[in-house]
Amino acid sequence: MQLIDGKNIAARVKEEIAAEVASRVARGEKPPHLAALLVGNDPASETYVANKVKACRLVGIKSTQLRYPADITTEQLLDIVDHLNADPDIDGYIIQLPLPRHLPEELVLARVDPAKDVDGFHPLNIGKMTLGLPAYLPATPAGIVELIARQGIDTAGKHCVVVGRSNIVGTPVAILMSRKNARANCTVTLCHSRTPDIGAITRQADILVVAIGVPRFITAGMVKPGAVVIDVGIHRQPADTKTGYRLVGDVDFDTVAPLCSAITPVPGGVGPMTIAALLANTLQAATR
Ligand code: GUN
Repeated sequence: MQLIDGKNIAARVKEEIAAEVASRVARGEKPPHLAALLVGNDPASETYVANKVKACRLVGIKSTQLRYPADITTEQLLDIVDHLNADPDIDGYIIQLPLPRHLPEELVLARVDPAKDVDGFHPLNIGKMTLGLPAYLPATPAGIVELIARQGIDTAGKHCVVVGRSNIVGTPVAILMSRKNARANCTVTLCHSRTPDIGAITRQADILVVAIGVPRFITAGMVKPGAVVIDVGIHRQPADTKTGYRLVGDVDFDTVAPLCSAITPVPGGVGPMTIAALLANTLQAATR
């Protein structure tokens, strides 16, 4: 069993980005500039945004964190989005999700200038991705494709089963893995909460991508021996550790890992690749 070391692979991607940023700056160009907009104070979102800002600093990308209270109105938020769209100093920006419940996520995301949409959440970018046209790809799916490719895993003709159909992960992963290119060419099955007997389908997977949001959902009996398993989940579970918790994925790692040809750990698998993909999109935004 190979452990897919996302932390290490992401570090290499980030080195490549840092070198590219440094050469831009040496040519007299300004460093790329990412803004991250955080509404409210969801603790997980605060951690994610802090990690993104830190990663920017490490590769020489300028970042600006914008914080607004949870009771901001839709009109106020749309006004902020319009200002970010018009600000020539900002190459790309993200709106950390989830937004507080009273804010219309679809409307807000559709207001983002597609050219600055480094999260790849705008309908135009999702449409281009689906057609195989150049677009900003959503960070987690792009990170997963990069991880599989850099691990040297052959995907052509393989059966890729995706568990979970969210707009952010499952649906775009299913689209990307089925595209006609050297990093994809899979036969794809997308399972979700209404799929009866998910195990019968996951047991057919050569490549299993799990983004269902349920701790340890995938157990040993649901995995074909020799499969490649990519675990997108990350959950805190109470444990007898120094912090009082431990992080687990959507896959029951301890029982599934011995069966796999390769598997991502949690933490240190998909998470670091998501951030690396966001940095790559930001560099691309500055280059356009
Ligand atoms: N919330 C969970 N994942 C993401 C992400 O990739 N981008 C943003 N903006 N919000 C998220």
